[in-house]
Amino acid sequence: MDNKVTVDGLTFVPYITRDKIDREVKRVASELRADLKGASPLFLCVLNGAFMFAADLVREVGINDAHINFVKYSSYEGTSTTGKVKEIMGLTEDIEGMDVVVVEDIVDTGLTASMMVADLKKRNPRSIRFVTLLHKPESSKTGFQPDYVAFSIPPRFIIGYGLDLDGKARNLRDIYVIDED
Ligand code: IMP
Repeated sequence: MDNKVTVDGLTFVPYITRDKIDREVKRVASELRADLKGASPLFLCVLNGAFMFAADLVREVGINDAHINFVKYSSYEGTSTTGKVKEIMGLTEDIEGMDVVVVEDIVDTGLTASMMVADLKKRNPRSIRFVTLLHKPESSKTGFQPDYVAFSIPPRFIIGYGLDLDGKARNLRDIYVIDED
């Protein structure tokens, strides 16, 4: 794993290695595979942050007739939430009667997640499952509880493996946390 990285003048230190990510992706994928037995789910990848996690997860779940689609929301500016969630790219596909699996990078305040789930429910899917790579339970402002969590972490700003700082650092293979020293 690389050592410290600097993005926009902020220093980040290694936090979750690729090995650990792979292990937890496999664990969550096997839980999903068991729970989705016999279903043809629709995986909804929440852009941009979840693109890497979703790519690894859907391949690991390995359901061949699964659908994959993308939605996009935004709430962050720099290293903190604006408290307002913007829908940037909505869902055009009909999801009535479908088993939907939302794949998110991180649940922080829970605002994006709860807004998205409320919106999806109006479209009458058969079921909605919410998977997140990371969860910051102490930051919750909504009490939203994801159904599947790869890592539960304290409320510190992280980057890498899809997560960004103002659009940068998504390409890092590992997850890094802001250096508060
Ligand atoms: P929420 O609506 O407050 O739960 O925020 C969810 C979104 O905020 C995520 O999908 C991320 O895009 C972004 N976010 C929250 N925490 C972090 C972080 O530590 N690093 C990068 N992005 C984050």
